[in-house]
Amino acid sequence: MLVMAYGRSYGLPVITTRGNNVYGPNQFPEKMIPKFILLAMSGKPLPIHGDGSSVRSYLYCEDVAEAFEVVLHKGEIGHVYNVGTKRERRVIDVARDICKLFGKDPESSIQFVENRPFNDQRYFLDDQKLKKLGWQERTNWEDGLKKTMDWYTQNPEWWGDVSGALLPHPRMLMMPGGRLSDGSSEKKDVSSNTVQTFTVVTPKNGDSGDKASLKFLIYGKTGWLGGLLGKLCEKQGITYEYGKGRLEDRASLVADIRSIKPTHVFNAAGLTGRPNVDWCESHKPETIRVNVAGTLTLADVCRENDLLMMNFATGCIFEYDATHPEGSGIGFKEEDKPNFFGSFYSKTKAMVEELLREFDNVCTLRVRMPISSDLNNPRNFITKISRYNKVVDIPNSMTVLDELLPISIEMAKRNLRGIWNFTNPGVVSHNEILEMYKNYIEPGFKWSNFTVEEQAKVIVAARSNNEMDGSKLSKEFPEMLSIKESLLKYVFEPNKRT
Ligand SMILES: NC(=O)c1ccc[n+]([C@@H]2O[C@H](COP(=O)([O-])OP(=O)(O)OC[C@H]3O[C@@H](n4cnc5c(N)ncnc54)[C@H](OP(=O)(O)O)[C@@H]3O)[C@@H](O)[C@H]2O)c1
Repeated sequence: MLVMAYGRSYGLPVITTRGNNVYGPNQFPEKMIPKFILLAMSGKPLPIHGDGSSVRSYLYCEDVAEAFEVVLHKGEIGHVYNVGTKRERRVIDVARDICKLFGKDPESSIQFVENRPFNDQRYFLDDQKLKKLGWQERTNWEDGLKKTMDWYTQNPEWWGDVSGALLPHPRMLMMPGGRLSDGSSEKKDVSSNTVQTFTVVTPKNGDSGDKASLKFLIYGKTGWLGGLLGKLCEKQGITYEYGKGRLEDRASLVADIRSIKPTHVFNAAGLTGRPNVDWCESHKPETIRVNVAGTLTLADVCRENDLLMMNFATGCIFEYDATHPEGSGIGFKEEDKPNFFGSFYSKTKAMVEELLREFDNVCTLRVRMPISSDLNNPRNFITKISRYNKVVDIPNSMTVLDELLPISIEMAKRNLRGIWNFTNPGVVSHNEILEMYKNYIEPGFKWSNFTVEEQAKVIVAARSNNEMDGSKLSKEFPEMLSIKESLLKYVFEPNKRT
């Protein structure tokens, strides 16, 4: 209705399609057909909601794609087209057909489970109008189901660990990334950062928790990451409060925890230096007080209170070396010991990370060169390098906050602990980012490079350059994009000006 209203009011060339149930290869296994196929492949029972009498119309995905093509080329602006099929099937019959394809006995393979609240008995669409444009359903049910089964049996690992989606009643969770389980995607604004919702599988490690039972205590209210985290919680409907205490003041942290009674603590507080980390070189006692004593105090108070602390740490504690040379694709792993102490900031962070390894209630997230879709933020790595007179050109691992901050929330829900390289997989160089900047934002943009030696003359402390091994985080979140894909999707496409 809203789309039609916009179309009419502003003369937009809008055509609406209304779809029905779609099936075929590549579908997220939370949907019934791929779910039943995967369950049948692993010899598990097929759960039927209620008595299986509800009826659905299934259309093969290629037919649906053809319908879109027909509507695009032949449809009339302002009209609505139903994409459907007259052939309806009961859920129980779909399950039986899948059992038949796998040579299984439906009686012993089908399991009836509690119905979903408000499970619709039937949806039916009249597709006559679309047929008049020349479209028709071409794939019959048997062929479509067989092709779908063949794809899943040939690509059993495509979706990774989807055990959560295969449960009789998977949960809906807020997550970053690009897909909704029903194939759609929904963009939301988080302080000019894009955040997406999509259904995820139930976690491998522990319970992912439900929003209503969560309460986050966040340190770093006035900071960049802390500010974004709060907004993200608001968007996701998660209760949160910012800590009033100072990290180095134990009593104030204890008071926060007593009054707020959080389920998780996020530490996005720390001294990062203004205008940059060079500040820490001339403020060493202050840096130690907050980044070392303060962080350890918060971890200890959380431990005393059986609370998980999600700690935003840094990956700037490594630099390329003989065993991890630049361009080799060999990244530093979570278990590697820091090897970069060129700045006092990094030195304190490296020391704290080593000590925090001994706290089993801490999840250390090694953030690097954070980037967000807010290109006006002076802390944003892209904003920084696009404003410098000269930049070095070195490939590095980086963190796209729009994609990864929601992952930190999911990690808290999953109660993940230990050290995590909190960067998008792969590396990107300064020049590669500036090329994208030029292509998407400012066509006339020019920059010049200088060497690390020349850079050293204009900064006080050395900067780390490295590649982090992203495999641990990717394994937990297979949907996570590579750094270049993430930059395009979350930063450059939404800000495109050219
Ligand atoms: N930005 C980066 O490039 C980057 C890269 C890698 C890792 N990190 C890490 O991620 C964390 C957050 O970074 P950010 O960029 O969001 O930092 P930020 O913008 O500088 O914000 C730091 C926050 O810490 C708070 N804070 C400082 N001292 C405190 C204390 N003694 N007690 C309680 N709160 C205190 C500040 O609050 P007040 O204003 O009240 O002092 C502020 O809210 C830091 O630990 C940083 O090292 C950042």
